[in-house]
Amino acid sequence: MGLVTMKEILDQAELEGYGVGAFSVANMEMVMGAIAAAEELRSPLILQIAEVRLTHSPLHLMGPLMVHAAQNATVPVAVHFDHGLTQEKIKQALDLGFTSVMFDGSHYKLAENIEKTCEIVTLARTYGATVEAEIGQVGGSEDGSVDIEMQVTNTSEAKQFAAQTQIDALAIAIGNAHGNYQTEPQLRFDRLIEIDQQVKQPLVLHGGSGIKSADFRKCIRHGIRKINVATASFRQIIQRINQNVKRTPYQDYFSYTDDVVQSMKENVMYHMKIFGSEHIS
Ligand code: 13P
Repeated sequence: MGLVTMKEILDQAELEGYGVGAFSVANMEMVMGAIAAAEELRSPLILQIAEVRLTHSPLHLMGPLMVHAAQNATVPVAVHFDHGLTQEKIKQALDLGFTSVMFDGSHYKLAENIEKTCEIVTLARTYGATVEAEIGQVGGSEDGSVDIEMQVTNTSEAKQFAAQTQIDALAIAIGNAHGNYQTEPQLRFDRLIEIDQQVKQPLVLHGGSGIKSADFRKCIRHGIRKINVATASFRQIIQRINQNVKRTPYQDYFSYTDDVVQSMKENVMYHMKIFGSEHIS
């Protein structure tokens, strides 16, 4: 199995009607935990890192690590560059062997977003890589540095955008937001259903941390195929470490790193079971 494009993973999910988790990683232990979860559950996996995270986890180090881990996995794994903002970093990810990139032009006006996304599609096609793009604006921000106001995706704009850019997956905003939800998210299923009827490409839900299992399943029934999860993994790891330190401070470094791997693994498995992607590979 090993390294595959995100398109291959999403096409299969579309055929069989399940969702696939795209889990953000920041270091080797998180990569190991995610791969271990996917292999144990026989689930496809999308490993991703966002451009805004690169100050903590540099791309020239994380990229080869993610690609090698995917190549050696016994289940299909796509390596995805999340929320690419600049052509320079997107190209660097492609040069490192990422099999998928997201261009996030959601803050541009429609025509400009289409134009810039088309440039990325042309670039990515020369690598045989998958392209995800966004229309409407998911609230919050990937690393919490700015609080972007949510703008629910307009259905006819989504249809035009998907047709004109020929992207492989479309991220939409239906009441979802990055980071911790202040109040329980109220997803706009009416809008999701409309978009799903008008857009042929698989749909992507960002801001997966804190959405109820029943809502995840309903999203998957209506065309969401890729679900991004970051905050829930970071939160689970920190909680485990804090609990352990409070009980008995670590005596050796490797007990600590083993706990990072294990808590990432548990969070990834938890989500894969909800998304229905286990026992697929
Ligand atoms: P959360 O941090 O809310 O899980 O969102 C992750 C995400 O959408 C990454 O693009």
